[in-house]
Amino acid sequence: MRCKKIFEDAKSVIPGGVNSPIRAFKALGIDPIIADRGDGAYLYDADNNRYIDYCMSFGAMLLGHARGEVVRSVSKRAGLGSSFGLTTQGEVELAQKIISKVSFVEKVRFVNSGTEATMTAVRLARGATKKKAVIRFIECYHGHADLFIDKAGSYLANEDFPNDRSGINTSDVFVVTFNDRDSVISAVKSIGEDLSAIIVEPFPANNGLIIPRPDFLNLLRILCNETGALLIFDEVISGFRLGLGMGAASIAGVDPDIVTYGKVIGGGYPVAAVGGLAVIMDHLMPEGSVFQAGTLSGNSVAMAAGLTTLEILENGDYTKLLILVDRLAREVNGAFKIYGLEGEVVSQDSIFWINFGKKNFDRFRRFYQRMLTKGIYFSPHSVEVNFLSFAHTLEDVEYTVEQIVDFIRIEADNNSQ
Ligand SMILES: Cc1ncc(COP(=O)(O)O)c(C=O)c1O
Repeated sequence: MRCKKIFEDAKSVIPGGVNSPIRAFKALGIDPIIADRGDGAYLYDADNNRYIDYCMSFGAMLLGHARGEVVRSVSKRAGLGSSFGLTTQGEVELAQKIISKVSFVEKVRFVNSGTEATMTAVRLARGATKKKAVIRFIECYHGHADLFIDKAGSYLANEDFPNDRSGINTSDVFVVTFNDRDSVISAVKSIGEDLSAIIVEPFPANNGLIIPRPDFLNLLRILCNETGALLIFDEVISGFRLGLGMGAASIAGVDPDIVTYGKVIGGGYPVAAVGGLAVIMDHLMPEGSVFQAGTLSGNSVAMAAGLTTLEILENGDYTKLLILVDRLAREVNGAFKIYGLEGEVVSQDSIFWINFGKKNFDRFRRFYQRMLTKGIYFSPHSVEVNFLSFAHTLEDVEYTVEQIVDFIRIEADNNSQ
């Protein structure tokens, strides 16, 4: 019962016992598990229960937990000092690695979180264009900064997390609908001259998983070209996960002006980045006039984790992930059909979303609780997506499919009684 005790202790010293609200499992109606350690595809809780982990720190752990090479490079670097408030060689090397993989990135600025990266990207766009208005999409999540939260994707859009917008102030932000051409075109028209940026997750993965309609991202590119606004791709989830380097941009065949990365490029440590062509990036201080700073930015231990992760990924076979996710999606979608239960698995590369339907949160809750008892840990909300890592095996996936299919069969039986 250590999980219970730690959570009780946590609640007395940390609001809600968590440092990020979704970790509280509030919508699931159960106490959260408390993570103790990770090993490859497995997460162990504080009561020593083992789970196959498909949340993988919301996509950060593409190599799985505690990958040996990453642990060794982090330990080595930590022994040399972690933070100096000065440039270190590790920052240069990680920047070079990213730039070498992405044609539209000539410079990057490292920050500590995806939120910082997207905030910086928008400030940079506003500073570079000398305009104010920003268009973003209701289905997309770009972190917890004010301008991204009012009417946001993610669980914030879900009634289980009532959001009274306390303390949130947004201005000059126009929220439109993803995959809806008319909604974007009319916003661009109504804004007129003042549009500085359109920010988008090219494959929105924070409100279920949404695949862009053909040409939708290209439309955004054209609208930005016509208005002089900058196109920002938020690839905090998709960057280096959908493939080494170009990620969503290359799948869509559209280059953004500014890109944000996070999660995978830090290998589980606090690293995120803003990148783009030098003519845009050089608007950042001290080269230009757009202020941005961070005491721990470019932290040398985090840089070592990121660099080692990308080096391993250079030799990684991403098709292995595709094969496993396809297998899971095919078999579970087959079961939904056979048993006549509403639901589907939507996937893009190593990202998958199990959708029981927006109105079926009770079913999701039952599903979630049953999977935990079977030793499977999914992302703890119905609109959150799941992730495969290079550590997952065919056996892990086969066992998981078996358990999901069992659940579907039981629910279908109960439905028919
Ligand atoms: C697409 C996207 N952008 C930005 C963020 C914010 O990143 P962070 O939680 O590191 O601040 C997230 C977080 O999940 C994300 O999925």
